[in-house]
Amino acid sequence: MKQRIFSGIQPSGNLHLGNYLGAISQWLTLQDEYEAFFCVVDLHAITVPQDPAELRRKTLEIAKIYLASGIDPMKSTLFVQSHVQAHTELGWILNTIARFSDLEKMTQFKDKSAKSEKETVGIGLFDYPVLMAGDILLYDTNVVPVGKDQMQHVELTRTLGRRFNERFGETFVIPEGRVSKEGQVIMALDDPTKKMSKSAESEYNYIALSDDAETVRKKIRKAVTDSGSEIVYADNKPALKNLINIYSLLSHKTTADIEAMYVGSGYGDFKTDLAEVIVSFLTPFQERLKNISDEEVLAVLKAGAEKAKGIAEVKMKQVRERVGLLA
Ligand code: AMP
Ligand code: TRP
Repeated sequence: MKQRIFSGIQPSGNLHLGNYLGAISQWLTLQDEYEAFFCVVDLHAITVPQDPAELRRKTLEIAKIYLASGIDPMKSTLFVQSHVQAHTELGWILNTIARFSDLEKMTQFKDKSAKSEKETVGIGLFDYPVLMAGDILLYDTNVVPVGKDQMQHVELTRTLGRRFNERFGETFVIPEGRVSKEGQVIMALDDPTKKMSKSAESEYNYIALSDDAETVRKKIRKAVTDSGSEIVYADNKPALKNLINIYSLLSHKTTADIEAMYVGSGYGDFKTDLAEVIVSFLTPFQERLKNISDEEVLAVLKAGAEKAKGIAEVKMKQVRERVGLLA
């Protein structure tokens, strides 16, 4: 029997190359080897205020991005989190075993809540990782492919799964997180000490998956570089290292090959080529995206939710019984 993977992306903000290289591109290779579940996590997105119409639009868009990236609905189960009610139900039950002290440690919560007034930070934002644990545990997931920043949440998922199993008897498979090596974190183009982020203030932080060729060229020209002029892949040149990583991941050349290609040339040539590497990835991707209709993606999501519900319901029956909820 194939092992299971589960992963998800929130339908908020603009998806960027970091999301693609850190998350989606890993999924493509994994879907052959594993029984895969890819979710659009709309209930996570509403932990910060969203415009309702925009949220619906984004939810469809993310699902289309999955398809345009090559996630194959014949192999993988694609669905929307809120279409499978078991996610919220298990999330609640896990809340009863999660501890304040578990959640207080979460870096993402600390980062996100630091951006708003203390009095107005929402409980949903605090509780976000517990819902995520529910997503993962519901499906007896073995492996969770995510960007490095999500590993702490996967760790919490393991803690909650183990705690439930100890208290109520073996119920959940304890999953493992997996980050791809080079794709770990793609850094911001305007600041290599921060990760590329869809909530960044400046659009020069990221390459959006929807950027056109001219925008890509302009953003790469403007990307910060390190001192010196050689193209070398080194920790003391974090800006260049990040650009070489992007080049390498999209062109499938090794970082050493790329260094060798640019011996004797400077940032100008390198950046011109890098922009074209990105454009030749994005152009056909955007073409595929444009050709996916709402009807098509809705049909995929409906079938995906039906399949997910079947599996989730079996698990929830067991969970309710273990916890003592009357059948
Ligand atoms: P988010 O954009 O935070 O909803 O993340 C969606 C997925 O993309 C998660 O698996 C993240 O770990 C991954 N991700 C987000 N930003 C980056 C980045 N800059 N580099 C690599 N992976 C990322
Ligand atoms: N929290 C993840 C993020 O922000 C999204 C997510 C929600 C997720 N549920 C998940 C990722 C389950 C992997 C597995 O990127």
